[in-house]
Amino acid sequence: MKSKLLPVIAPSILAADFARLGHEVETVLLAGADWIHFDVMDNHFVPNLTIGPLVCEAIRPYAKKNQQPACIDVHLMVEPVDRIIPDFAKAGANLISFHPEASTHIDRTLRLIKDQGCQTGLVFNPATPLNYLDFVLEQLDLVLVMSVNPGFGGQQFLPSSLLKIAAIRAKLDAFERETGKQIRLEVDGGINPDNIAKIYQAGADTFVAGSAIFSKPPYDQAILQMRQALLEIK
Ligand code: DX5
Ligand code: ZN
Repeated sequence: MKSKLLPVIAPSILAADFARLGHEVETVLLAGADWIHFDVMDNHFVPNLTIGPLVCEAIRPYAKKNQQPACIDVHLMVEPVDRIIPDFAKAGANLISFHPEASTHIDRTLRLIKDQGCQTGLVFNPATPLNYLDFVLEQLDLVLVMSVNPGFGGQQFLPSSLLKIAAIRAKLDAFERETGKQIRLEVDGGINPDNIAKIYQAGADTFVAGSAIFSKPPYDQAILQMRQALLEIK
């Protein structure tokens, strides 16, 4: 079942040239991207180490679309999560997602993100059960489905994610019917112009892509191919 929300393409700067990150952010947004996906890894929750609030603050002025701030979509793969959330809010993050396994008090972490003025997201690893959604939907702006095990870019999309996306779509649609609230459904890992349509068809509306965009310049080509694939789905 397709989402009713307009599709969003969120390039992951994990695959960008870190020596010229500001330029990469500007270029990919000019090439048609909607958001900037910002992967934070701590070499503890996941076996890799990336970027933190200082880099978020440094790219903030470059993350613009039509003179307006573009959404910096922070994906925290860190444990614990609470200590670092205010730092990202101050650094200009718009949306902060975290993994339920990395938070001792999920409800408290969601409230902390909201109190800091950001939108909230909860992330599901390939084997994480969906019951974590049961009592928090009213506090969520986004659900993020990992279609690879987190930690590295450039991995293959796991086909089992499609069933999970469809199951979450059904829950989000039921919640919208009850409350009127719409929650985005984002998918992250191994997305490219060839598989984006079936991910959309399964019910996702927000697509993270790292290597499919940054390893295949010019960036507008990959983004255009993704948008065309989405348009073909009725
Ligand atoms: C993986 C990250 C992803 C990753 C996506 O842990 O959360 O955002 O960078 O990269 P690709 O699109 O290359 O799979
Ligand atoms: Zn990510």
